[in-house]
Amino acid sequence: MMVRVAIIGGSGLYKLLENPKIVKIDTPFGSCDVHIGKLGDEEVAFIPRHGASHELPPFRVNYKANLYSLNMLEVERVIATNAVGAINPNLEPGTIVVPHDLIDMTKCRETTFYDGKTTIRVRGREVSGVVHVSMTPHTYCPEVRSSIIEAAESVGMSVKDGGIYVCTEGNRFETPAEIRAFSILGGDLVGMTGCPEASLARELALCYASISIVTNYAAGVSGRVKLTHKEVLDIFSRRLGDLTVLLGETIRRIPRQRSCACKDALSEFLK
Ligand code: HPA
Repeated sequence: MMVRVAIIGGSGLYKLLENPKIVKIDTPFGSCDVHIGKLGDEEVAFIPRHGASHELPPFRVNYKANLYSLNMLEVERVIATNAVGAINPNLEPGTIVVPHDLIDMTKCRETTFYDGKTTIRVRGREVSGVVHVSMTPHTYCPEVRSSIIEAAESVGMSVKDGGIYVCTEGNRFETPAEIRAFSILGGDLVGMTGCPEASLARELALCYASISIVTNYAAGVSGRVKLTHKEVLDIFSRRLGDLTVLLGETIRRIPRQRSCACKDALSEFLK
């Protein structure tokens, strides 16, 4: 059976499926263990982004192997989850946000598949030449985003529709001055894993949207003084049940046929 939807689980989401089959996929960028199993009635793929026991810090995650393995499985839609800090003081810890745009402030990550050396194949077709994908008109897939929003409404769960996600390199949390700067730039949320994941997905014409759980006020917001990773995981774990319900309901609602522009992201570069 074809797997059409994948979930990339962030901090706090390491196990989603009951008795999954774990498939090791070897890609030109490294290997990736993809868990395949049922969520509700549907067979889905799941990748715990930080490894099965949170052994990978954000800068060591092999984003390229993760996304390329989903490409090799011919997955079409990706839902990512991540823990974030609130730059916007109106977003209380515990809030679930579906961001609509992002700002990439990472510094030393590999950001593209198109390095001029590796042959990239997407759904059996080779992609060649100098490839610059577009992040407009939608940074995140509009169909997956609206499926998440509608899924939340249908189960009476409150989620915030829209927000600008800022991705930092880490590994440390930010300084108050950095958060103030991101706020002036329009950022609402800050995390360490949304980039280059979102644009790598676009580079493979995968639909991609994200569900962010606010685990804390970011540095300097609402008097925030010290931040700990334990606090991030504690707050995340409180919403884990809701997140699982939301993911299951979203998958049921994602249209079978893709009508968004994500599928055409490479049309001018396909051989
Ligand atoms: N900053 C960066 N990443 C995060 C934060 C934060 O405040 N909270 C959870 N992930």
